[in-house]
Order: sequence, then C-alpha cells, then structure tokens
Amino acid sequence: MTATFAEKIAKAQDFLPINGTDYIEFYVGNAKQAVHYYKTAFGFQSEAYAGPETGIRDRASYVLRQQKIRIVLTTALRSDSVISEHVKAHGDGVKILALWVDDAEKSLNETVNRGAKVYQELEIKHDEYGEVRTAGIYTYGETVHMFIERKNYSGPFMPGYKSWQSDYQPEETGLLYIDHCVGNVGWDRMNETVQWYQDVLGFVNILSFDDKQINTEYSALMSKVMSNGNGYVKFPINEPAEGKKKSQIEEYLEFYEGEGVQHAALATNDILGTVKALKSRGVEFLGAPPEAYYDMLPDRIGEIDEEIKAIQDLGILVDRDEEGYLLQIFTKPVEDRPTLFFEIIQRKGAQSFGAGNFKALFEAIEREQEKRGNL
Ligand code: FE2
Repeated sequence: MTATFAEKIAKAQDFLPINGTDYIEFYVGNAKQAVHYYKTAFGFQSEAYAGPETGIRDRASYVLRQQKIRIVLTTALRSDSVISEHVKAHGDGVKILALWVDDAEKSLNETVNRGAKVYQELEIKHDEYGEVRTAGIYTYGETVHMFIERKNYSGPFMPGYKSWQSDYQPEETGLLYIDHCVGNVGWDRMNETVQWYQDVLGFVNILSFDDKQINTEYSALMSKVMSNGNGYVKFPINEPAEGKKKSQIEEYLEFYEGEGVQHAALATNDILGTVKALKSRGVEFLGAPPEAYYDMLPDRIGEIDEEIKAIQDLGILVDRDEEGYLLQIFTKPVEDRPTLFFEIIQRKGAQSFGAGNFKALFEAIEREQEKRGNL
C-alpha cells in the first residue's frame, strides 16, 4: 500500500462535512414484528415512534437505538403507498442511509449542483424541542441518502415522533456504531457509482479489489471502498464478476430486484461476547470456515490477543493489514429473500475490510478438498 487510508481520506473534498451516519431506515412488511426481532436478537433499545397515534396517517415507524447505531423500521398502513411498492419490489430492505450534517440545505444544494437527483427538497420540522431540517438525494437503485441537521433539536429522533418507552427491553449485545454500509450494483456499474460518490459527495476511493482477488472457482466479485473526508462514513460498492456459476452479487440483484444495500457492518469492542450473545438470541451466522483456516491463522496474522480456540468455536474470521488486525463474522440474510445481511466487526488497529480472509478462506477450503482427493 503506497498511501495509508488516512492519507487517502485527506484528499476527500470538504464541501459536504458529515458527522457520521444518522440512521438506517428499513422499509418492511410488518414493522411491529421486525422491531421485535431487532430488540430480541440484536439488543436494540426502543427510542421513538410515529404512526396514527402521533398524527401520521399512512405509516408506522419505530426508531431503535444501540449506542451510536440508530435504525428506523417503517411499514405502510395501506397498499397505495410508496412504502408498499418498495416492499413489493424488494422485500424488506434498506431505503435510507441517512447522513448527519450541520447544514442540510447546503448539503442538498452542493450535491444537486454536482448532479444528484432530488428525493426530497428541504423540509423544516418543528415541535416543542426545536427543529430538524432534512433533505434527500437518490443513490444506487431506489436507495436514498437523507441529510439530517439536528443541531437545534433536543427531542426524541425528530418532530412527528414521540418518545417510546417499552416494558420489553432485552439487554444490548455490545454493538457500538456503524462501521460501513455496502451497496451492490449491477454489471459494469461499480465504476460509475464510485465516480458518482467522488463527483457528487466528494468521497475518495480508499481501497479496490478486483475479481482476481475476490474469487472462487465458481464466482467472483469486484469492490471499491468509498470514504468521506473524516473517514466516519464508508460505503464499499460491489458489482458481480464473471464466474462459472452465479455470484452472490448476482443472486442479490435477482432477489432484491435491483441495486441496494447488501450489508451493514456493526462494530463492537468485544466480538467474542457480542457473537456469543447474538447466537444465544437466535441470530444465524454463516458456517465456520474449515479447521485448516484456523491451523494456518498464526502464520498468516501473527500474535493476537484472543485465543484461537475461542475464535474458532464461534467461526470468527481474522485479517491483518499494516496498521493492525480485525475480527469479523457475517450473518445469514435476515429475510427469506437472500438479500440484506449484517457483519459484526472488531477493529484492533486495522482499517481495511478483511480482504485477506477471502484468499485464506478459499485456500483453506481447497486444502480440505485436496484431503478428500477432490482438487
Ligand atoms: Fe463489510
């Protein structure tokens, strides 16, 4: 690597200062039940609610929080609704990746001047706690970036919502903040999308993988990681690559019926504790890599604080870069369509995304094949 991520990020333009991810909003078929899943399984806490009881006639939205992670689950109350249309086409999925900014109007103007398509013009919402200003632009597929300015607001979430206290409140699972959110785009659309993030949002490309780095015998994908100027918001963009069989990105595009958010990575400071808790609450993870992956781990990544046995028991993956190492694990899709899933990640210095795991994981699988005489 010639430049560190910090050096690359320093090249990002600052016409769009972003303080972080404000929230992720999902459009779902039944928000009441989805909320139960995210509270029970992931340990999110009830924060705010909007619906008929608060004067909103066409939808119900529940706001959940765990430390700095805020998610909103929204469902339509009638069929003649853009929310119903979205769910009909895509199933449950991410509609909004909201960005926390100090000036929503300037964010909208700067990005529209650079070619963004407007989703929502500036809206100023008031209540007794102050005002929230919002505006939005489209990104890939039907996904939207909202700009949220809340510096003059002290209430729960935003005007239109009321504070929501629930008697049912499972414990948190150690999730702290959103590390990155990955988008899947169609064939030959990755570079176009990356260019859009550069031109319209002033992001920089900090990392690229081609299909020679991310492939198995059967399938491949390409990926580029985009970051904003302070590194608080990172959006990797994937596109499928030609393989012998259908790649996981193609499968996503087929079942999501278009481009959209593939996974959100949630950070923890204690991945062993977090993954144990999530498993005990019913979160399903991808199968653990073969034993050979863990046998070669000390050679590949050197000393780590965790016991290999403890990592192996949970099926956690480890990768190292110049700045340190990271531990990560992926859930199965959280809907029946094989679309959105979550990553749980703990960074111990490393700022990369676990690319070493692809190669190591595939090599380990091939060694197992060899043992069986199938390579
Ligand atoms: Fe990821």
